[in-house]
Amino acid sequence: MNIQKILVIGAGQMGAGIAQVCAMSGFDVVLNDINQESIDRGMKTIHKNLSRQVEKERLTNEQKQSVLERITPNLALNEVSGVDLVIEAAVENMEVKSNLFAKLDSITSEHTILATNTSSLPITEIAAATKRPEKVIGMHFMNPVPVMKLVEIIRGLATSDEVYEIIEDLTKKLNKVPVEVNDFPGFVSNRILMPMINEAIYTVYEGVATPEAVDEVMKLGMNHPMGPLTLADFIGLDTCLYIMEILHDGFGDDKYRACPLLRKYVKAGWLGRKSGRGFFIYE
Ligand code: CAA
Ligand code: NAD
Repeated sequence: MNIQKILVIGAGQMGAGIAQVCAMSGFDVVLNDINQESIDRGMKTIHKNLSRQVEKERLTNEQKQSVLERITPNLALNEVSGVDLVIEAAVENMEVKSNLFAKLDSITSEHTILATNTSSLPITEIAAATKRPEKVIGMHFMNPVPVMKLVEIIRGLATSDEVYEIIEDLTKKLNKVPVEVNDFPGFVSNRILMPMINEAIYTVYEGVATPEAVDEVMKLGMNHPMGPLTLADFIGLDTCLYIMEILHDGFGDDKYRACPLLRKYVKAGWLGRKSGRGFFIYE
């Protein structure tokens, strides 16, 4: 199958990044969201990223324009047609994703592959919302998408070999490196990363150190490019909490219990960089 047109659902930080890299690799992209502000913000980020590439003389102005022309913003899923692949990057919530996949199953062509960028939810369960589980697959990009090389690829129980191969091949066309992992809560990336972030939050909660000190230890002591609390703010504290809850539910082990301070921040609307405040304050 020859993929030409890709529908990206969710124009948040992940969806905008995915739309950008798909358009930069020559695909036609529809960028859908339920919220006009998210679309505007997403398109603004893409503009900014591409302008930086022009400034650095990695893209010409004409190339930037043609990348932008390949992205069509959209607020009405029903109006989208002719899509070969959907990459869903809406919020990390099973009910939202199941409803979306049931709808996508009914409005897209029979040949359309339905991929999800979920960070932690079972692909098999998302696929069960459709009548085409063999065409449902996990395609887990990392944040920031234009920079990070990895895409974890996760098969659901029924995902066909053909679909796996198409997605693996597409990932390479996007200049990313595919790594196949099995369908377990948090896959590999977040099963390892999130407990570390949660532990960093416990370290602050228990008064062992300030957020600044925790991050400094991990950056200077372990050579992490960002401290775990800066990274949590960057990912979004709501997303971090959803992922911890999925790990806790999925494994039933208290070592995955979300730190109460993380819950408190999310309840306060301190979601990290995207809301202007998390463990640190952003302008
Ligand atoms: N979007 C696009 N490009 C970005 C960017 C963004 N948000 N942030 C940085 N960049 C680009 C910069 O433009 C710069 O590009 P050039 O070299 O072409 O100029 C390059 O990245 C390096 O940026 P900086 O020099 O400003 O900063 P840095 O060296 O500190 O790198 C970083 C920034 C790449 C984000 C680095 O801090 C890093 O790797 N952080 C950790 C990121 C990480 O762990 N991501 C995974 C999160 S977990 C996840 O995604 C899975 C999940 O399900 C939650
Ligand atoms: P975000 O909060 O930045 O964006 C989510 C967007 O989805 C919002 O614009 C929202 O309006 C939109 N949305 C919500 N419901 C929708 C629906 N029914 N239809 C269309 N759009 C809808 O979140 P994000 O950080 O971009 O995360 C999106 C997905 O990617 C989540 O599943 C998350 O777990 C996953 N993910 C996140 C990261 C990360 O570092 N933040 C990394 C990898 C994967």
